[in-house]
Amino acid sequence: MNESPVVRLEKDGEIGVIIVNYPPVNALGSGVSDGIIDALNRANADPAIKAMVLMGEGRSFIAGADIRGFGTGRKRPPLGQRTYDVLDASPKPVVAAIHGYALGGGLENALACHYRIAVPSAKVGLPEVLIGILPGGGGTQRLPRVVGAQAALELITSGRHVPAPEAAGLGIIDEVLPANANLRAAAVAYARKIADIRPLPRVRDRNVTAEPAVFDAVRKSIARKARNQKAPYSCIAAVEAACTLPFDEGIRRESELFAELENADEAKALRYAFFAEREVAKLPDLPPDIKPCNFAAPAVVGAGTMGGGIAMAFADFGYDVKIMDAAQDALDRGMERIRANYATSVKRGSLAEDERLRRLGRIHPVAGYDDISDCDVVIEAVFERMDVKKPVFEKLDQVLKPDAFLFSNTSALDMDELAAVTKRPERVAGTHFFSPANVMKLLEVVRPSKASPETLMTAMALGRRIGKISAMAGNTDGFVANRSRAPFNSEMVILLEEGCLPEQVDKVMVDFGYPMGPFAVGDLAGLDVGAEGRKRRALANPNYRKLPIADKLVEMGRYGQKTGAGWYRYEKGDRTPHPDPEVAAIIRSVAAGMGVPQRTFTDTEILHRLLFSSVNEACRILEEGKAYRASDIDVMWLHGFGFPRYRGGLMYWADGIGVKSVYAQIAAWHQQYGDRWAPSRLLRELAETGTPFREAKPAPFA
Ligand code: 3HC
Repeated sequence: MNESPVVRLEKDGEIGVIIVNYPPVNALGSGVSDGIIDALNRANADPAIKAMVLMGEGRSFIAGADIRGFGTGRKRPPLGQRTYDVLDASPKPVVAAIHGYALGGGLENALACHYRIAVPSAKVGLPEVLIGILPGGGGTQRLPRVVGAQAALELITSGRHVPAPEAAGLGIIDEVLPANANLRAAAVAYARKIADIRPLPRVRDRNVTAEPAVFDAVRKSIARKARNQKAPYSCIAAVEAACTLPFDEGIRRESELFAELENADEAKALRYAFFAEREVAKLPDLPPDIKPCNFAAPAVVGAGTMGGGIAMAFADFGYDVKIMDAAQDALDRGMERIRANYATSVKRGSLAEDERLRRLGRIHPVAGYDDISDCDVVIEAVFERMDVKKPVFEKLDQVLKPDAFLFSNTSALDMDELAAVTKRPERVAGTHFFSPANVMKLLEVVRPSKASPETLMTAMALGRRIGKISAMAGNTDGFVANRSRAPFNSEMVILLEEGCLPEQVDKVMVDFGYPMGPFAVGDLAGLDVGAEGRKRRALANPNYRKLPIADKLVEMGRYGQKTGAGWYRYEKGDRTPHPDPEVAAIIRSVAAGMGVPQRTFTDTEILHRLLFSSVNEACRILEEGKAYRASDIDVMWLHGFGFPRYRGGLMYWADGIGVKSVYAQIAAWHQQYGDRWAPSRLLRELAETGTPFREAKPAPFA
């Protein structure tokens, strides 16, 4: 048999080195598993080889099964004939030598090896739950036998990546090499050292037990997060099998549970989200040879809530960052808020005290423009009004080096107008962070017409370097995320005019999978915030659909949690929203004043009224060329608005209903409610041709 093109067997003296080479991440794709089996068989048959090393070429060990093959009717080898089984049956020891990532099937293969060593930067994990499945290559049976049921449950239900030193502490890795070690040389030396040890240490031969209460406790602890999902519970059931059944029976149980999940809607949506998140990084109309610039000296201007959050995001990812506010008291308050935020994280146990000090030490408050003149990238985060931002931009343009990038954290303002006040419009872009900026994963990069490709690439890369998912948006009012969300925000208040209550709408959306209902979120963000935007839009557009109920609450000083009352009422010192009869009375009285007939609503009608309005607007965004792909809008909804990930995203979800049905309903509401429900041209065309939303061809980016 010819050697596999993706797995080769080399000899280093009496050690066989099996190298997987399937870029970019050595997923167990086409021929990789067969190649490993073939190499193992040849090494075992070669009397000159005493032990083997399994390693990956390029940036990783093995990142897991090839997710692209899932849902395509792929055939897995039967139980007993998988790489894991061949590793178990190997009469010679195999050492997994890990760098980069050993994830999913990658770690499962490593666990079936007899020894595991790793470089300190390596990460291991079983992230299958994040794509709606469970570790189906023996991971649910082997990992508990190595780390115990409790730790295995935590790792498998969270899917988190575990750094090699921690993995060594748990017993997953036998030896972490020094930072500068040559992995291959060290692995070969290790293999020589253990070559003659018998019996071979096999994970499958170990035992694990746990009290049933352990599993019940985990089921309880994940209940909120895992709402509406099956995979996390199947993961627990499989680990339970490891603790109650002999190894081979446990493997059979794991396989059955895996088969139930692989092609379920949950797994399909999560796979879609995984690839959408990778696609969103691609800017297809920019020259492919343009690279982002490196930056070393970032600054944030404006020490308010957003500015402070952005500075924290830089510090959290290792950057020294200056935070500047011309008003000393605002700067002091901003730093105080940052300190309080970090202190809260320590109190909650999500941040170690020494790390808190390190992060705080990276944030340098300064009060003058001259103090940031040496910075190479500046994010302006002052108050969200053009007349406030323009003078700041002018000043920054004067003091910064000519090649420094100037980004604005804005959620809606015209970036062309702002860029025009500088002499460097080609180095200006919008960077719209979501609140809290150090927590929320989405960074919307807004593209003004004069921004150079290098500027756009740099803004996108900046987001990734501070742990964000960057998504490109056109320069349109509200950009892509908030513009697509705006009709939802109006519709939820209009529903109140017609007879709904905030708590009813919130319940529907929480049941759908949102962590909080939209009215409760409004109270958290502050109702005064949205009121500003409504005023601006009403001034600009005489046909703007006013929201008298929302305006009334703001007029009454009901700003949300911060005033103890908004859509709900709040007890002092408690954030629990309580339905408020006073709000119900206001709603009824405003509705009566408007003469709107009252009626009842089904949950589905509420859900569709909110989400279809946004689907229609998203289509308009695509037809105007303000976003590259429908899937980019999905990524924005997942990471900007808490849309349930296991539903894929707004447009993916709408595809599940069907483009023709969505169109028919929107057309009916157009008849009933008038222009705000006018179907977009793209929606109509997609419905006519039966093209799914996610295959929509947007206009060229404008
Ligand atoms: N299958 C197919 N393609 C994969 C892949 C996988 N498991 N993992 C990564 N890729 C692709 C990505 O789609 C991307 O392709 P593109 O360049 O065409 O967009 C490319 O590899 C690089 O990926 P990233 O951009 O994500 O690279 P990073 O360096 O940022 O991250 C990573 C690397 C941490 C490995 C990340 O890609 C990742 O988390 N991958 C998924 C890991 C995973 O879920 N493994 C479990 C698979 S399921 C399994 O093993 C089942 C088993 O139990 C039976």
